[in-house]
Amino acid sequence: KKLFRQAYEGTIVALSYAEILLNKAIKDYGEDHPVGYGGETAYFIPAIRALSGLEIRTLGEFVPILNKMRDQVRLELTLENALLWGEAVIHAAEIIEAVRYATGAHEFLPRPWTGFLSDTYVRKWGIKHVDWTIPGEVVIVGRFRTSDDALRIVNKLVQKGFMIFLVDEVIEQLLEKGYKFDIDAWPVYPLGNFTQVIHAVNYALRASSIFPGIPAGDKFMHRNYQRDRILVFVMALGERDIVKVAACFAAIYLGFPCLVDQPLDEDEIWPDWYFSVPDYDEMVQEGIEVRGIKITAIDIDVPIAHGPAFEGEAIRKADMFVEFGGGRSPACELVKMVPAEEVTDGKIEVIGPDVDQMEEGKAYPLGILIKVYGRKFQEDFEPVLERRVHYYFNYGEGVWHMGQRDQNWARISKAAREKGVTLKDIGKILYAYYKKEYAAIVDRLEVQFMTDASEVEKLLKEAREKYQKRDDRLKNLRDDAVDVFYTCTLCQSFAPTHICFVSPERTGLCGAVSWLDAKATYEIDPTGVCQPVPITSEYVIDPVKGEWSSLNEEAAARTQGKTTSVCMYTMMDRPMTTCGCCECILAVVPECNGIMVTTREHKGDTPVGMTFSTLAGMVGGGNQTPGFIGVGRLYLVSRKFLPADGGIGRLVWMPKELKEQLRDQLNERGKEEGFGDNFADMIADETIGVTADEILPYLEEKGHPALKMDPLM
Ligand code: SF4
Ligand code: NI
Ligand code: NI
Repeated sequence: KKLFRQAYEGTIVALSYAEILLNKAIKDYGEDHPVGYGGETAYFIPAIRALSGLEIRTLGEFVPILNKMRDQVRLELTLENALLWGEAVIHAAEIIEAVRYATGAHEFLPRPWTGFLSDTYVRKWGIKHVDWTIPGEVVIVGRFRTSDDALRIVNKLVQKGFMIFLVDEVIEQLLEKGYKFDIDAWPVYPLGNFTQVIHAVNYALRASSIFPGIPAGDKFMHRNYQRDRILVFVMALGERDIVKVAACFAAIYLGFPCLVDQPLDEDEIWPDWYFSVPDYDEMVQEGIEVRGIKITAIDIDVPIAHGPAFEGEAIRKADMFVEFGGGRSPACELVKMVPAEEVTDGKIEVIGPDVDQMEEGKAYPLGILIKVYGRKFQEDFEPVLERRVHYYFNYGEGVWHMGQRDQNWARISKAAREKGVTLKDIGKILYAYYKKEYAAIVDRLEVQFMTDASEVEKLLKEAREKYQKRDDRLKNLRDDAVDVFYTCTLCQSFAPTHICFVSPERTGLCGAVSWLDAKATYEIDPTGVCQPVPITSEYVIDPVKGEWSSLNEEAAARTQGKTTSVCMYTMMDRPMTTCGCCECILAVVPECNGIMVTTREHKGDTPVGMTFSTLAGMVGGGNQTPGFIGVGRLYLVSRKFLPADGGIGRLVWMPKELKEQLRDQLNERGKEEGFGDNFADMIADETIGVTADEILPYLEEKGHPALKMDPLM
């Protein structure tokens, strides 16, 4: 077949190019010259590591693997050989890119090209894969027929929630159309050109290294995971050449079909894997179908785009049309359970002026009242739904929201205003997402926006009473006061052996699933990821370490027997499993007789000599690792913070940012434990030091309680 012949020839070209570059680099820099992606990854040269198991550190170490790849490339045009070519091309491309990094070429990347993407991004967006907020990934290589096509199709894919990798001229086409890349708001990655496409591959292969923790070199498992879980398809646009065909075979090797927009001869087609779809919209549709991707985006009749892809966008003051709250005007939001007759399903009301009657640049009062009735609805679910206001509000394109309760703050951009957006439209978005995600517990829902100052004052009064009532209830919601904890196994789709147990005083390690959330999730889907587990006295094995026979059985049943016993209240003995979503990672610092914490946001080193990324790579695949554990931020100030290990008094180091966020609560908890009024200041941070030696004198000077405790190990 002609297609196979082209792929073979392209493979030879790619391998030769890699060899030339590598030899030249070795000649110029020596074979011991270090390689790696500049501390951006804990996975060495990630694609090669995943597939071949090699942890390559120097230029010279590339030579044997490149030779091995060259040797496996045979001319017979068979399917089996075709896959070996694909594998060889992945290695060749990654060697080319790694050599460029090793020799400093990446420092001259034109903006906005990203080149290699750090582990931080893989982790950050991995969370959105878990619940299929991101239904799949599209790699677009080459150029669309027009820049308008480029913009239209990329926007369409974003609206559907896809993660997108861009290579070659499509990036310039988008820039030409004024497209703004903001990879922290949504993953549309302008990788660069030519072999930089490998950064999509090493990204995907890190996902299978990180989330299910597939070992380096387990080619079979990595490929299965790529094919079945990382739903990627490739749009290969514009003129074809043999190297591009070979690159497509590399994608096919990983289970990613390639759709091209050029006409193909009969013997250039590989059905379902390499085929032509000249119409771009049709190409997107076929890509979705051939991968069996389920799109969950919903249709709402509003003038702006919406969906999780628009959650991360910020609106600067200069781009703002109007704002609400944020200390500039009174504002609050409240979800309230009401009797059936007090709510009209689908009613959306604006009391006071709507956006079209507002003046640019001003702050207006805003009360958001959401009335809910449901036969299965409970008052305990009010705060759970109320937190969703933040997300759904943000889902609007050009609409921004922050905070909660009476500390909320919202903005509408000039661009959204020009499209004609109103509060009523935002109400429609809220209504649609609530009805979609909470259909099982919400029968009727009504949205009221109040912009009239006196109405907002009235609502504020009611809301504050309600917040107070809820806080009182939460204070009494203790592990010891309930009969059940809940499982959460949402992350198993990514980390198959992971299970979180969620208790009133311990939110899931992602920070997003509280005991009340889990309870609501169970009501919504009684056979779903959150299951109640009884913890009454007959199940208690060890009350100090927090071991229950019921939790052990549930863990075993839900992890295929991999995790058979778990302790809730210690990280030293059979701790809970950790998955890649954790907000923080704790690690024992033996020299200080204490525990340090680092966060996903903290990029720097820590007193155990590892960054968050390295730690997460080590413990985050759904394993139990005594001495290490992933937790949510708020768990640190919980009364049930690892009581069997000494509790909060063990905290010897944390990033300054975390300390400031939790300062009041740390001090309050410290006081309760008898550590004086200023426990937060006893905890070292990166400004004091990042090694045990550097922080120890500080802890001694402050009289840190951990130094007087029993040895941890
Ligand atoms: Fe994943 Fe645990 Fe959060 Fe559930 S609670 S989403 S399993 S990290
Ligand atoms: Ni938004
Ligand atoms: Ni997870």
